[in-house]
This record gives sequence, structure tokens and C-alpha cells, in this order.
Amino acid sequence: MQMPNLKEAKVRTQNTPRTINYNIKEDYKSLGKNKTYFIKTYGCQMNEHDTENIKAILEQMSFRESPIMENADLILLNTCAIRENAHNKVFGMIGRIKHLKESKPNIIVGMCGCMVQEEIIAEEIKNKYKWLDIVFGTHNINELPRILSQSLKENKLALEVYSIEGDIIENMPVKRESKYKAWVNIMYGCDKFCTYCIVPYTRGKQRSRTKENIIKEINELKKSGYKEITLLGQNVNAYGKDLGVGYDMSDLLSEAAKTGIERVRFITSHPWDFTDSMIEIIKKYPNVMPYIHLPLQSGSNRILKLMGRRYTKESYLELFNKIKEIPNVAITTDIIVGFPGETEEDFNDTLEVVKACKYDSAFTFIFSPREGTPAAKMIDNTPLEIKEKRLYILNNLINKYAREANENYLNKIVPVLLENISEKNSEMLMGYTDTMKLVNVKAPKDKLGQIVNVKINEVKTWSMDGEIIDEI
Ligand code: SAH
Ligand code: SF4
Ligand code: F3S
Repeated sequence: MQMPNLKEAKVRTQNTPRTINYNIKEDYKSLGKNKTYFIKTYGCQMNEHDTENIKAILEQMSFRESPIMENADLILLNTCAIRENAHNKVFGMIGRIKHLKESKPNIIVGMCGCMVQEEIIAEEIKNKYKWLDIVFGTHNINELPRILSQSLKENKLALEVYSIEGDIIENMPVKRESKYKAWVNIMYGCDKFCTYCIVPYTRGKQRSRTKENIIKEINELKKSGYKEITLLGQNVNAYGKDLGVGYDMSDLLSEAAKTGIERVRFITSHPWDFTDSMIEIIKKYPNVMPYIHLPLQSGSNRILKLMGRRYTKESYLELFNKIKEIPNVAITTDIIVGFPGETEEDFNDTLEVVKACKYDSAFTFIFSPREGTPAAKMIDNTPLEIKEKRLYILNNLINKYAREANENYLNKIVPVLLENISEKNSEMLMGYTDTMKLVNVKAPKDKLGQIVNVKINEVKTWSMDGEIIDEI
């Protein structure tokens, strides 16, 4: 058993991370014969992409995917720790699975992802959820075959969670969710240590993949017909800083654009590391999409300081306005309300920034104290009702601007990558514009995977409807 440790999770050294080449032993390749798996994923794109790796590893072990949890022989929850309600969802699900296991004792049940990297959660599992079979963390997905085999052999919980700075694991297999768009990790971990955030503890130190490995992956994706890639990291603008070779995010973006893949996106951008040369690259290459997610978190300088965000309202707005000069750009954000000590005045500062920026859309959250982070120890005497009221006011404003932004699209012709059958109408297809607007399109199924010109004839707050004009 290997338990996580908060103190160790915080450590940052100058050591260069190891690069490990994934491989799987022959012995493990038949472990899942005639068995099926089901994975439920919580949290961010990082986790979604990890799930794509985990699925492929399980398939190397001969497991096959089951679309229905109740029918699966192996159930795995890939968890998120970012806010308390993420925890509650996972424990609710674990309760359901326990019932299932009582009637089907042979099913294998596991947990992985950010939540199990937390000391208190791992303790809770060890003490109260001994009936689980496997628990592994974000640092050792590559060890899943061995951990699973061990649990099956010993018929007891195999819990292995490391609190380390982390390695770079290359050559992990991947079973991608989409045939047309793909995640490409460019960096792992985070060194920003915003005072409210658990991610630097659950994902280790910032470590960039080499540009050679990234560009190779993009070229392979392009060759196999992918239209869109999203460069992925908690803080992509800091790409390369840890490699110390003078090659940064703007270099990587332009090299990614030069591969000629039709669409290049990237998330998430921390305002701190956003450079002018990145803006130039986005303007220069038409295949770098004019869509930026630029988390604000708060519009109050006092709160930003307490959050450790290292920018001010003024410098944020200056950057925002520079980005806004990119033709046709859409900008979205993340905002936290009710950070410890947030006053009405601080909250009003946030509203002011929102009014100035008129975001295309935003994710908004009530502050959730995460054990072990500095903000969890700060005095917080704002009642929940007030925080909820602030969230409500903020959301109304965000929705208003989101709707206005969409209304600008009415009767316009925009490029949409058709990626799936529409959820609301099986006669329609759905996809996203270059600016990341969700569009439902009247189109035949053979247009799937194509970037088409769509005329928008109806707009709502969170989506639009349209019809194909002709192909690009
Ligand atoms: N790396 C990204 C954010 C990843 S987490 C960035 O720095 O922009 C996604 C969002 O969750 C954050 O932007 C923040 O708004 C929110 N979040 C993170 N920790 C939180 C907490 N403790 N309580 C409430 N919201 C939180
Ligand atoms: Fe969390 Fe801040 Fe890192 Fe984003 S940049 S993952 S909010 S610590
Ligand atoms: Fe959640 Fe971990 Fe992502 S905490 S938001 S799954 S990095």
C-alpha cells in the first residue's frame, strides 16, 4: 500500500523529470479476457484525456468497453478534487456501486484521478472502503496493469498513490473519444499554487513534454484524419519554461499551426504568462482558433492578491483588450465568488470587470475550501446565502452577455466542425464554430467530420441553430 502525503505533494525541486516509456508485460495482456469495463469520468479535460489512456490500457489487457455500468466486470471512477461537490458526486456513485457489488461480488471496482491523491480521501478509502479493489493516482496510470493483476492475485485492495513531482510518460496507448478532434497534452502539473487550488498537489510539478514528441503526435493525428487538436495543460502559456531551452508557447503554437492541421486550440491560459507574441501568432495563423479561455477568478485586486494570482484587475483588462484585437475572437472565463473575506465591494469589482469584458461565456463557482491549501485556513465569515446570492447575480449578468454575444451571430455564416449527432434532435448534427460556439445544424450524417459553412438562423443563450450553406 502506498498512501499519498500532502507535505510531499508540495515539494518542488530543480530535478529534471524522468521520461518513462510506457510498455506492458505480456503476462498482463490476457487478464481481461471475456471481461468488460466501464469508466465514469469527473473533472477537467486532463481527466478526460487520462480516461482515453486508461481505456486503451484496459483494451491492451483484453477488456472490452461496456456502455452500461451495471453490465461491466470492472468499474472505474476517474475522480476530480477541485470542489467539494465533485467529492459528493463520487461518494454518491460509490454507494450505488456497493449495492451492485453485493449482488455481483466478482466485479472489480476502482478509483483513480485527483481525489485519491488527497491524504484524507485515501485514508477514508483505507478505513471505510476496503471493499474497493484498485486505487491508483494521477502519477501511475501506466502501472495500472500491474496494480490490477496484484489485486486479482491477492484478492484485496491494491492502493498505490504517489505524492511525487511526477514523470513524463510517453507512448501510452490512447482510445480517443472522437474521430475528428483530439487532446494533446503539452504539459503536466502546475507550479502556480493559487491559494484556493488543489491541482498543484494532485498533479505534481509543471513539466513540459518535448516539442518533438508534441509535434510528432500532431502530425500523426493529422495523418489519421483528425481535423482539430487542443493543446492541453493547466497553464499552457507557461509551456517550455521548465525546459530552459528558450522555446516557449508562441513557438509551439506556430509550429503546431505549421503542421497544417485544420484547427488548433489550447487550454487553459493563465493571464500571468500570456505573451504578446502569442497574440501575434494567433492573428497570423488562420488555423489557430480565435477562442481564448482567460480565467479572471476575481475582479478585486485585494482578493486576487489573496488568491496568489499575480495580476491585477488593471493588468488583466489590459491583456484582455489586447486579445480582443484578434479579429472575431471569443473570450470566456472562470470566476470564483465568496473567496474568504470577499466583501460586497470586492464582489462589485468582479461585476465591473465582467461588465467591461462582456464575456462570451463563463464558468462560475462558489469558493470551496480544499484541505491543505492556504485559502482553506483563511477566515471566511460570509454566510452561504450571501455567496449564493452573489453567484445568482453574477450568473444573470454572464447569461445576459452570453446571449448578446450569440445574437451577433444571427444570419451570419460561420465554419462548424460537425462532430456528432445533435443531442436535442437526432435529425441534426452538432459541432462548434472556430470561436467555440455550440451549433445544431440541419445536415445529413455523411457530413460528420467535415468543417462546413453554416448560416445561423436561430440563437439561444447556450447554443445556436443553423443550416449548411456550402463546404469550405
Ligand atoms: N488551471 C486553470 C484552472 C483549473 S481549475 C487556471 O488557472 O485557470 C478550473 C477552475 O475551477 C478554476 O479556474 C477556478 O475558477 C475553479 N476552482 C479551482 N479551485 C477552486 C476552489 N477551491 N473553489 C472554487 N472554485 C475553484
Ligand atoms: Fe490551480 Fe492556479 Fe494552477 Fe490553475 S494555475 S491549476 S487555478 S493553481
Ligand atoms: Fe479536477 Fe484534477 Fe482536473 S482536480 S479539475 S480533475 S486536474
